[in-house]
Amino acid sequence: MIKLSHIGLRYDGGPEVLTDISLTLEQGSFHYLSGESGSGKTSLMRLLSIAKLPSRGDVTMFGEDVISLTRINRAHLRQQIGVIFQDFRLLSHLSLYDNIALPLRLSNHPEHKIKSAVKDIANWIGLGDYLKTKPLFLSGGQQQRAAIARAVITKPKFLLADEPTGNLDDDMGQKIMVLFEELNKSGTSVVLATHNKILMKTFKHPVLTLKNGELVK
Ligand SMILES: Nc1ncnc2c1ncn2[C@@H]1O[C@H](COP(=O)(O)OP(=O)(O)O)[C@@H](O)[C@H]1O
Ligand SMILES: [Mg+2]
Repeated sequence: MIKLSHIGLRYDGGPEVLTDISLTLEQGSFHYLSGESGSGKTSLMRLLSIAKLPSRGDVTMFGEDVISLTRINRAHLRQQIGVIFQDFRLLSHLSLYDNIALPLRLSNHPEHKIKSAVKDIANWIGLGDYLKTKPLFLSGGQQQRAAIARAVITKPKFLLADEPTGNLDDDMGQKIMVLFEELNKSGTSVVLATHNKILMKTFKHPVLTLKNGELVK
């Protein structure tokens, strides 16, 4: 369902930070993405979330050739991907409610359905009392949980999570993993960048490892 062929990525004409990456992710698969800091995990996430296009190589997602798509069709494709960014990317001028509701609003869900979905996920993730609060008034862990809620609320076809438990205590980290596992069981493909050895041991999945911008076997 997602296929990268001989991908290279450079930023602003600099050196390649991802080199000759070929990768197939089947629908319903679950992979960890590991590698030292600077090895290219976030860059690979940017390609997989179509936030960036590669400098060379091909990308196919859900049967579409991502590179030759129009901007509008690419944006449409992006709506099927849930992303938890390492730096959260919550919108600071919006309440937590509006942040979490955003993907459902973009796909034109009726407001009464949005309301119950936002309340359900916010309560489950321990943010039910903060829905009127703006992100900057929340702790790092609370912001991370809000970013997780926003990414999963559409039950996306493909979920990308960049070190999503980095600011959470162990119990919350486990709880979030159970959420990802449930989504995965209902068909969502997951790629999860993490350094958390305990999670990787508890919830077993194949590991993709990056080293200096290359996938190592
Ligand atoms: N926006 C950017 N502009 C220029 N260089 C970048 C940018 N983002 C990452 N890099 C560089 O790409 C390489 C891989 O970084 P990154 O993908 O963030 O790795 P990781 O997430 O594994 O720490 C690093 O050398 C980093 O400095
Ligand atoms: Mg990173």
